[in-house]
Amino acid sequence: MHQHMIDQIRQSVKSTLMGEGSGHDWWHVDRVCHLARHLHALEGQGDPLVIELASLLHDVKDHKFGFSDQDRTDLVEAYLQPFNMEQDLVDHVVYIINHMSFKRGENKHILQTIEGKIVQDADRLDAMGAIGVARTFAYGGHQNRPLYVPKEDKSDLSGQDSITHFHEKLFKLKDLMNTDAGSLMAKKRHQVMVDFMATFLSEWHGHT
Ligand code: NI
Repeated sequence: MHQHMIDQIRQSVKSTLMGEGSGHDWWHVDRVCHLARHLHALEGQGDPLVIELASLLHDVKDHKFGFSDQDRTDLVEAYLQPFNMEQDLVDHVVYIINHMSFKRGENKHILQTIEGKIVQDADRLDAMGAIGVARTFAYGGHQNRPLYVPKEDKSDLSGQDSITHFHEKLFKLKDLMNTDAGSLMAKKRHQVMVDFMATFLSEWHGHT
C-alpha cells in the first residue's frame, strides 16, 4: 500500500507536529492512525490508503490555529503531488480533513464516505477515555485554564475550567459516532470518563 510514500509522509508530519503542546501533537496523530486501521479492519470496508492519508494529515494546519480549508487543500496537494496520486484520491483526502472537525463549536458536517466516517470516529475516540482525560487537562494547561471551578464560585473562571469541557463536548461524543465498531469502542471510553468524573468530584469534596 504505497509504503514508501506513507513512511515519507509520516516522517514529515512527525517532525512538524513533534512537541506541539495542546494535545494535537504527533502521538495523537499516531494513535488516530492505529484507531482508524482497527476500525477499518472491524468494519471491513473503505480504501485503506485514503484512511491512512487522512488520518496522518488531519491535524496539520488545524483551523483552531487560524488555518483555512484552502491552506489544508494546498498542504495535501503538496504532500501527494510528488507521488503522482490520482486526483480523485487527493480530492477525497482533502474532503475528509476539511469536513471532519468541530468548527467553532458546531459540527455541521456529516461525512458521507465510509473512509471519512472511520477517520472521524478515530479522531473522536482519541478525545475519549483515559487518553481523553489526559488530553483535556493538557489542553487546559496550555490555555491556562484551571482544572475545575465549582459552580457556586462566581469568579470569571467559572465555566472556563477543564471539567466544563467534559460536559460541553466529551460526554456528547458517544452519540455522534458514525460506525458500529466506533460506537462500541466509544461506549467503553465514555464509561471511563464518567467514572473519572465521579471520582474527581468525590475527591474534590474530600469524600474519598
Ligand atoms: Ni485530531
